[in-house]
Amino acid sequence: MNDSRPIPTEYMQVSVVVPTYNERNNIAILLKRVSDALVGMNWEIIFVDDASPDGTADIVRALARQDQRVRLISRHNRRGLSSAVVEGALAASADIVAVMDGDLQHDEGVLPEMYRTVASGKAEIASASRFLQEDGAAGLSSATRLKMSNGGIRLANAAFGLDLTDPLTGFFVIRRDVLVRALPDLSEQGFKILLDLITSAKPRPRVAELPFRFREREHGESKLDNKVMYDFFLFFLEKKIGHFLRLPARFLSFGIINTIGILLHLLILEAGLAWFGLSFAVAQLLATMLAMAFNYSVNNLVTYNDRQLKGADFYTGFVIFALLCSVGVVANVGIATVLHVQYADIAHELPALAGAMITAVWNYAATKLFVWGKRRRPVPQPVPEGASQGGHV
Ligand code: GDD
Ligand code: MN
Repeated sequence: MNDSRPIPTEYMQVSVVVPTYNERNNIAILLKRVSDALVGMNWEIIFVDDASPDGTADIVRALARQDQRVRLISRHNRRGLSSAVVEGALAASADIVAVMDGDLQHDEGVLPEMYRTVASGKAEIASASRFLQEDGAAGLSSATRLKMSNGGIRLANAAFGLDLTDPLTGFFVIRRDVLVRALPDLSEQGFKILLDLITSAKPRPRVAELPFRFREREHGESKLDNKVMYDFFLFFLEKKIGHFLRLPARFLSFGIINTIGILLHLLILEAGLAWFGLSFAVAQLLATMLAMAFNYSVNNLVTYNDRQLKGADFYTGFVIFALLCSVGVVANVGIATVLHVQYADIAHELPALAGAMITAVWNYAATKLFVWGKRRRPVPQPVPEGASQGGHV
């Protein structure tokens, strides 16, 4: 085919994607550092902000007015580091995407080497590891593994057949087409985006690790909390089982917690009858209420950790949860009874199971929508322009 368009001599080499939440004091410094590190290259930087209350987006817009390499994706009613990274990468103009934190903890000095590793075709992903050490004499071309004490890293490697010193790092360079290839299989939960990308892209991408020194956070605070182990467990389930059954991690989590809830129910019922001499109706009511409270609060804590209901919302949420689950119970008994009457010759376990399964689906879908569904977030107030520029090193 004859294409008469001129071959561009200047093309965008790398799009740097930076997810931000409350990083207003770090943006200008990061931009300066990245532009120093990438001097001589053709690049853009895309900040993906989730309506940070501190007005991070306004700071980015102010910088973008002066510098066309700066872009902003501002999301409303959304939260999530992984989805921010994915959406930033999808909006990237370049074929190669760098992902880094906006809190200055990632050493932008490693970016050119990471870029070269991917651009040269040596690897499809270059990730920056906190647990590799540069070999003094050999420089960046060679590195040794630091002694790994972190059990989580070993677990992640073992679970997915990897051999990385830092599979959970949030600092990496990836070919955009590899990311696109991974999209259909990415976890809804978005546990750790790099691990998610590596395990979702088929065939599995080649990864090269480069060492870097993880800096202390200067401004603001870390948003990632301590439920990492549970998240990893869910991610694992989704990838290994749920993926095969096409079940989202949240449903699996809901199912596991509610199964424990049923056991708790039986335990309370037995205890109430045997040890406290309660009547069946009272023991059953007590067991139902306590199991429901257990299901609600544990799901609120882990399954919906990202949308956790607090304060007054917690109690309203519980009332709605209890009402919806009562509908589930009525449906359960109804369905099981109809099936039992219709097919009187089959074992009664089957109608019971069918009723329970339909109830589980109802409870999950209804509470996801009406208890932990989206609610309005306030629009962040405009912050005076230039308020964060300068001042910090
Ligand atoms: N858009 C958006 N939405 N950005 C977010 C959100 C969110 O909900 N939550 C966090 N961020 C941004 C932060 O503003 C920061 O730029 C970056 O994502 C990382 O968040 P931190 O809160 O600083 O995370 P960390 O330092 O605890 O974790 C880092 O180390 C982990 C190592 O296990 C990150 O690099 C992780 O990606 C990494 O996995
Ligand atoms: Mn951080």
